[in-house]
Amino acid sequence: MGFEFTDGFIPKKTVCKRGAIKNIRQEVENMSPKRALLICGKGVYDNTDLVDRLKGILKELCVGVFNGVKPHAVTTTITEGKKLCIELKADLLISIGGGSAHDTAKGIAVLVAEGGNDILDHRVIFEPPDKMEIPILSHPKLPIITIATTLAGAEVIGAAGYTDPKTKLKKIVVDPKLTPRLVIYDPEVALTTPVEVFVSSGMNAFDHCVETIYSKKHQEISDTLAMRAIKLLMDALPRCVQNNDDVEAREKAQMASFMAALAYGNSWLGINHAICHCLGARYGVPHGIANAIMLPLGMRFNLDVTGDRQALIAAAMGIETKGKTDLEAGEAAAGHIDQLNEKLGLPRRLRDVGGP
Ligand SMILES: [Fe+2]
Repeated sequence: MGFEFTDGFIPKKTVCKRGAIKNIRQEVENMSPKRALLICGKGVYDNTDLVDRLKGILKELCVGVFNGVKPHAVTTTITEGKKLCIELKADLLISIGGGSAHDTAKGIAVLVAEGGNDILDHRVIFEPPDKMEIPILSHPKLPIITIATTLAGAEVIGAAGYTDPKTKLKKIVVDPKLTPRLVIYDPEVALTTPVEVFVSSGMNAFDHCVETIYSKKHQEISDTLAMRAIKLLMDALPRCVQNNDDVEAREKAQMASFMAALAYGNSWLGINHAICHCLGARYGVPHGIANAIMLPLGMRFNLDVTGDRQALIAAAMGIETKGKTDLEAGEAAAGHIDQLNEKLGLPRRLRDVGGP
């Protein structure tokens, strides 16, 4: 049986607690860096008071704000962020938002450390079916603190995706030194995220669990994390929709996001994520929505060869599997996700969200 579980993608510290951002000054003071650059997109900058609150808490420890994050982490914005980071002599990056904000922080850290102006110079080269050439990014990286407003998983791991605006392709950069030093899940902060954005990002976390469990690299530890995260998400996501102010449901979902990310950081993802990255980069379909739509389809596509693993997924979802074959249990699990999407009020067809 055996297992392999690396600490490469495990943050030094993760806090999930109401009001957690109030302690960020103390956390920064405990680190040696003293010049923090806040990184966020327009949504967080214009529609919430988070940036002002953080500036108020950090005071002189905050030296500037880069609010140029774009959905799907467009490569040119990473170059802009790097310039500002160097100009301000920032020595700590604090990203606030969803996956694109955290990936932007990681991209800035790479360009500052490794040099150059194009993050894609440091990308992983993938050759189907499963050959990955990961460049060695040897220089020390600026520390990163992530404040998660969604359930992206990018707030946890030292891997990131970037979209080339010319080719409309998304490429991956991986370096365990990019794994955030501190991850902050503050459920009260999560309440500032519109519910559709929050629960659709939850379907991204759900997908991380499913693809972990039927990954070729599945193992007991990541299975356990992913199965428990599925249970939490099944309960929390519908509650978020039923009551916009259900802070406990948001907290539960955040715990699930963290567990799912630890799991997939060790088992990696599959065809669903590959397709969702294309849908994001080429058609601009938000990653969570793409995952919600594609997940049941990907499960059915993989069912023939992953039936035994999908029966585990069904059991984790609370489906009665007794008397069912693995294929029947897997089909029931995919059907259950269709129903969950409907309950969450999420789009069901790519053509309704700008896709093909
Ligand atoms: Fe994802």
